[in-house]
Order: sequence, then structure tokens, then C-alpha cells
Amino acid sequence: MATLIFGLGYIGAALASELRRSGRSVVGVDNGFATDWPALERLGDGPGGRFRLLRGDVRQAPDVTAAFLAAGTGEEGVDAVYLLAAQASAHATAAPAEYTEETNLRGPRLVFEAALRHGSPPVVYGSSFHVYGPQPGGEMDENHPYGPLRDLAHLSKVYAEKLGEMYATTRGLTVVPVRLGIVYGLGPVIKRDLRFVTVPHAFCLRALAGEPLPIQSGGLAPLPFIHLPDAVGALRLAAESSSAGGYLPANAVSEVATAVDVARLVQQAAWAAGRDAVLRFHTPQPAAPPAVTPLVVRSRLEGVGWRPEGRLATEVPSIWTHYALPGGAG
Ligand SMILES: NC(=O)c1ccc[n+]([C@@H]2O[C@H](COP(=O)([O-])OP(=O)(O)OC[C@H]3O[C@@H](n4cnc5c(N)ncnc54)[C@H](O)[C@@H]3O)[C@@H](O)[C@H]2O)c1
Repeated sequence: MATLIFGLGYIGAALASELRRSGRSVVGVDNGFATDWPALERLGDGPGGRFRLLRGDVRQAPDVTAAFLAAGTGEEGVDAVYLLAAQASAHATAAPAEYTEETNLRGPRLVFEAALRHGSPPVVYGSSFHVYGPQPGGEMDENHPYGPLRDLAHLSKVYAEKLGEMYATTRGLTVVPVRLGIVYGLGPVIKRDLRFVTVPHAFCLRALAGEPLPIQSGGLAPLPFIHLPDAVGALRLAAESSSAGGYLPANAVSEVATAVDVARLVQQAAWAAGRDAVLRFHTPQPAAPPAVTPLVVRSRLEGVGWRPEGRLATEVPSIWTHYALPGGAG
């Protein structure tokens, strides 16, 4: 049996490495849109299960079919599909809107259709906690309603989730959207382009470049975070615990912090290295902290043994050190 991963970016590459390390055979597909190809070729290095890298595009039905055929058919078929290929950036210059639509809307449909034709393995979809809107608050489990969306990359998550629900209810496919918080930490693919990294990485890169850390008006609002190995663990557990079938969304958030909290951690890492980092507030700071509804995230994965361990306080210094190495900040 092989595991098929569409999208070997920041998260997909870490998942592929982890699956290989545990002896699994992995077929990975990417079109090189946002990830350097040499980094992907190195994913097959070292001991572990077999790794096969395919250049393919989720917008193209023949590429999607070829990926399933490469991963195997019948008894030797695909045990699980992870759909992590996406135009994931909300940044206005990351990609033309058409590219985001074709990859993030058409891609999932082609993958769900192909999964149905190749033995109906469970499809774990890389969704986002952002489906609940930009300002989550209160106690939130998977039944919380969708919130307002402000960019195509995140809006497409709602479409793909509902598409997965449609394929689950009308065609019997198992679809598991994992609503990931903001992922941070080191892995086999580390981005340096500010359009494609999350806030802990962006703040480290800015501080190393001598730039202030921008704090927008929502700087004291609670944000959902998850360390990369915990995100990989959640994706794997989501697949392994999907035997009930159907549409099975799952939250994956391990820690709540504000942008100011993250900036302060980066500042401490800078100070420890004999550097400085300055926070720049883009709106005047209120005399008293604003009333913010605390965020508490519940995940159904906790019921099947998910125990995330990573903490921003311990991982931000590692991210700083990585980018501070010669060539690290790109
Ligand atoms: N990183 C996070 O904090 C985070 C948080 C929530 C959800 N997610 C979601 O998880 C998934 C993976 O995120 P990531 O951080 O690894 O992003 P990423 O950009 O690093 O990885 C996406 C990969 O998809 C590839 N890709 C893009 N268009 C493609 C296409 N048409 N065909 C084939 N491959 C294509 C890119 O080259 C890239 O390697 C995305 O759907 C993202 O929205 C990420």
C-alpha cells in the first residue's frame, strides 16, 4: 500500500518525511509552484519507506489520474490521500486569482473524483481554522459555523469542505477536512518568501533583516497556532481514525496566542542572540487592554488520542536560529 500526497510544500513535505520514517511507501505530487524542486528530491534520502516524486498539477485530470496509478491499484492500492496542494497564500501578489481558483476549487474536485475511481481511500484535506472567520473567540468545536472570509485562498477552503461533504453524502467517499491553525516550526521545506510563511517565521525574517515587526489592529486578538509535527500528527490521526466513513471535519489547534505574544518571543530570541527587534504598532495602543473573548479550541481528534506538544515559547528560538544561520534568511 502507498500513501498519496498532493502538495509537497511546507506541511506536505513534513508529512511525507514522517510517513517514510515510519516505513510507509509514499507517492508525492507537486507542480513546483511554491516549493523548490531540489528540496523535494531530497525527501527520498535516508532510511525509510519508498518515496516516489511526481511532477503533476492538481488542475489537470490526467496528472491526478497518473498519481493514483503510480501509487498502485487494487490490493496494492492507496491507503490514504492527503490533499495539501493549494495556492495557500492570502497575499495579493502570491498568484493570479484564476490560479487560486483553478488549483483550490477544481483541484479538490478532480482529486475526489479520482479517489472514487481508485478504490475510495479516505481523503484528508488540508483545511484551515480560518473557515471560522478572522476573529475566532469563545469555545469552538467542529460544529461552530463558518465565519466571514476575506481572501480567495481561505474562501476556497469552505468550498472544498462543502464539496467533500457532497462527495461523502452522495457518493460514499470518506472526506476528512483538518482545520489547521497557523502552522509554525522547522521541517524539510522551510520557506523564506514573506508571502508564503506564517507569522512566527515572518517576524524572525523581518527582525533578522533589521525591519520592525508590524502589529496590526488585531494584535491583541487570540490566534490559533499549531507546531508542524503536531499538524502532521493530526493529519495522520485524521486518516487513521476515519473508518466510520462520511464527512469528518476536525480542528487542529494546539495553542492560542496573540501577534504581540509572538513578536515578544521573537524579540527575546533576538536579544538572546545580541540583536534587537522592534515592535511597530500600526494603530495607537489603548490605555487599557481591549476586552477580548478568550479562544478555547476543542478537537474531536483529542478523543482518539491526539496530544499536541509543541509550544511557541520553545520553538520560536529554533526558528530564529535556523534563519540566522548563514544563508538562512535567504
Ligand atoms: N501553513 C499553514 O499555516 C496552514 C494553515 C492552515 C491550512 N493550511 C493549508 O494546508 C495546505 C498546505 O499548506 P502549506 O503551508 O504546506 O502550503 P505550501 O504552499 O507550502 O504547499 C502547497 C504546495 O502545493 C503546491 N501546489 C500549488 N499549486 C499546485 C497545483 N496546481 N498542482 C500541484 N501542486 C500545487 C505548491 O508548489 C506547494 O508545494 C494548504 O491547503 C494550506 O492552505 C496551511
